[in-house]
Amino acid sequence: MRIDIITVLPELLKSPFEASILSRAIEKKLVEVHFHNLRDYTTNKYKQVDDYQFGGGAGMVLMIEPIDKCIQALKKEREYDEVIYMTPDGETLNQKMANTLSLKKNIIILCGHYKGVDQRVRDLLVTREISIGDYVLSGGELGAAVLCDTLIRLLPGVLNDETSALTDTFQDGLLAPPVYTRPASYKGLDVPPVLLGGNFAKIEAWREDRAMERTQQLRPDLLQ
Ligand code: ADE
Repeated sequence: MRIDIITVLPELLKSPFEASILSRAIEKKLVEVHFHNLRDYTTNKYKQVDDYQFGGGAGMVLMIEPIDKCIQALKKEREYDEVIYMTPDGETLNQKMANTLSLKKNIIILCGHYKGVDQRVRDLLVTREISIGDYVLSGGELGAAVLCDTLIRLLPGVLNDETSALTDTFQDGLLAPPVYTRPASYKGLDVPPVLLGGNFAKIEAWREDRAMERTQQLRPDLLQ
């Protein structure tokens, strides 16, 4: 998979890709992530990427020209499956979307800023609009990092234990069951005996029951 991220603040985005699972995935060449600074695609002397909105009103709007130039330059090199715009009024990201998007070969992620982008960017260039939740960030960068993390950890070979993404919360529509490690008893709190017994059928049944119980208690909406 190749991800191209278009942003006015590449420095805000880089660190999540420089540590732990994401950096290892990049090192192992399981994914390529490229950052493109929108200012490199401006034609004016001041490298201006935004302007006041027509009709008046507070907040600057990212202009279409540098965004179009950047996207066209990328599209000249390869075909893209999606051009995703990170925005609070997009479709809310969930695990099902992450699963689908993780199967794509090449995607572009455009980070919004200020009041957003000129509507014509959304009409002409963007194929999908994604929000990471019903709250407003100061830009799309942190949303893009969240989206990339959810996609990259699903790519084959990224997680050491290939099955571990399959047992994640949400993968089967339920919250994950509780997990325990040593010691078996701590300050009077004991690990459920079934987990120590070595009967895998019983352990599996126990985990399924706990997952259902937890979902009913904490996220009944997932069961509707
Ligand atoms: N940009 C600003 N707020 C956002 C959000 N909630 N999700 C994605 N991108 C955003």
